[in-house]
Amino acid sequence: MRQARTMHSSHTVAGIALALALGTGACARTERVHPPTPSDGASTVHPERWPVPSRPAIDADAALESRIDDLLRTLRVEDKVGQIIQADVAVTTPEDVRRYRLGSVLSGGDSAPGGDDLAPARVWLEAADAYYLASMNTSHGGHAIPLLWAVDAVHGHNNIVSATLFPHNIGLGATRNVELIRRIGAATARELRVTGHDWTFAPTVAVAQDVRWGRTYESYSQDPALVSAYATAMIEGLQGRPDEPGLLRGAHVIASAKHFIGDGATLGGRDQGDSRVSEATLRDVHGAPYRAALASGVQTIMASFSSWQGAKVHGHKGLLTDVLKTRMGFDGFIVGDWSAHEQLAGCTSTSCAAAINAGLDMFMAPGDWKALHANTLAQVRSGSLPMARLDDAVRRILRVKLRAGLFDAGTPSSRPLAGQFALLGAAEHRALARQAVRESLVLLKNDDALLPLRPTMNVLVAGPGADSIAMQSGGWTLSWQGGQPNSAFPNAESIWRGVETVVAAAGGRVALDVQGDFTTKPDVAIVVFGEAPYAEWRGDRASLDHQPGEGSDLRLLKKLRTLDIPVVAVFLSGRPLWITPELDASDAFVAAWLPGSEGGGIADVLFADGDGRVRHDFKGKLSFDWPGAPTDRGVDAQPLYAYGFGLHYTSSAAERALLRSATPQRSTRIRTSQGEPR
Ligand code: BGC
Ligand code: BGC
Repeated sequence: MRQARTMHSSHTVAGIALALALGTGACARTERVHPPTPSDGASTVHPERWPVPSRPAIDADAALESRIDDLLRTLRVEDKVGQIIQADVAVTTPEDVRRYRLGSVLSGGDSAPGGDDLAPARVWLEAADAYYLASMNTSHGGHAIPLLWAVDAVHGHNNIVSATLFPHNIGLGATRNVELIRRIGAATARELRVTGHDWTFAPTVAVAQDVRWGRTYESYSQDPALVSAYATAMIEGLQGRPDEPGLLRGAHVIASAKHFIGDGATLGGRDQGDSRVSEATLRDVHGAPYRAALASGVQTIMASFSSWQGAKVHGHKGLLTDVLKTRMGFDGFIVGDWSAHEQLAGCTSTSCAAAINAGLDMFMAPGDWKALHANTLAQVRSGSLPMARLDDAVRRILRVKLRAGLFDAGTPSSRPLAGQFALLGAAEHRALARQAVRESLVLLKNDDALLPLRPTMNVLVAGPGADSIAMQSGGWTLSWQGGQPNSAFPNAESIWRGVETVVAAAGGRVALDVQGDFTTKPDVAIVVFGEAPYAEWRGDRASLDHQPGEGSDLRLLKKLRTLDIPVVAVFLSGRPLWITPELDASDAFVAAWLPGSEGGGIADVLFADGDGRVRHDFKGKLSFDWPGAPTDRGVDAQPLYAYGFGLHYTSSAAERALLRSATPQRSTRIRTSQGEPR
């Protein structure tokens, strides 16, 4: 394996650093959407117009390929079909794996072993062994081919009780700290190895363009340069660097860049919707992170549920095969998304040769995958799925398994780090997550330099998010939609607990009251509010108004303000929302995104030390424009705060004054130091 080389000068480390420093990448606005009915041919792609990588991140290996040749020669056709099916563990036993020679299993967001979202890590590891042993059991014929077990470790190993929960991607985007992302990837890989997992469906490299999308928080940024830099860091953190020993093995795992391609471009921000952008935008904005991912040696890519110009990506040969594999040289495998193949014309969840013919290599099949197996086998036998295509799909899957050393790795529980349960939520990982929280916070307003607070004050902590680890963690947390009680998070700290610790240690007074009631009038109130957890389309919304009318959060802020109590608002959300009334009703306002398990990171920044000295300044900068109206999320929308904005304790009086004029009547455009607003 030799040195990974980047394909574009803009992807060189220096180029990225420069782009980040200048904020030049903040130009991800796409052109206006095309007319609603795409004409025939609108979804025709021109691979020759897509850039060619100079060389693959991982060189072809002749010995490995000849081992695959041998396997392909002797595998039975039904075993090959088994390899290209990934079944959900909720409906799959180890015995099924043995019988059908399945290539992979997954645990969807709600598919923990035994159907228990709170199953102990030990039970996950036992299940990993059981599935693996079944894949190696040839007592009834077939070949021993180790299976892969994938989970959505999208902000840490988030399906597992006790695991470290890092901020969701949108918060990481605000840190602008590429090296931190790499370390988070490495820590996540280590925690995955503890439970015997070898593959994560991460990172999401969507370049979200419309924050009404329920998956905006899975997107690092609206800016393709930032997403690309992060894709590199996260993939290399998870998999290891292509030019270093230990790639894909040891403390590393297999990553998956998702969802190829244009998931962040859909009309109206509709999940699984249609991306009506030009081929140039698809390539330059939404394709950019895939070039970075390939240069980092990503081994799997997940196809998107969405369509491009009316054509579902799962059936788009031009994009999957001609662009991604042939032109861009991707030699790993393409996994489908959750039964997404059933959305192709002429397909059902149990029959879809069209997706494999288009270039999909592995079905993600949560439902009746046995029928899918039978139908696919029949399609190969009838020739409607050519054997050559099946062989190519299996070759790619075997290539990844061989590269990851799986054939010689032994049972999951015997591999490095397996069973070291203390690594889940290890102090070192939590400290890293806490750093990420601190660096992700974006200060939008700080009237009269209310922040930083003195820890010797009398502090009231209020609001529905103050003591809710579920709210601070969002979706994809223990279950698909999240929402578990604090008791489900032994290795986590709520925002309230973090504040309490700091204030109590300094000899101040501190109280929690979600409704904002008190007995002794506090010197300051910290009000934590925002979005309730959601995932995928469940989080799509038509309006960006956080709470239309005078909602409960605004009433709480106003109630405290009327009593002359200065208010610090801490806003938990998966995206920027229209919160101008709440902003006006607060003295200081912090966008905290979905910070995850380390609520204590917020107190680190809000509070000075006992002598009033800043302990940690704000570092976060918006990785998305902040909306200036409840409805606008169109191309020409005027942001209230533009991409790149974020105040510091050291911000100038002029910057702060600009902010004060940000009212609903005059949504002042805050310009960053780089001048031109977009
Ligand atoms: C999501 C993917 C995810 C998969 C498995 C799908 O619904 O779109 O992002 O990896 O489920 O949970
Ligand atoms: C998600 C899965 C989840 C399932 C629940 C899918 O869309 O991606 O991870 O378990 O829905 O029905």
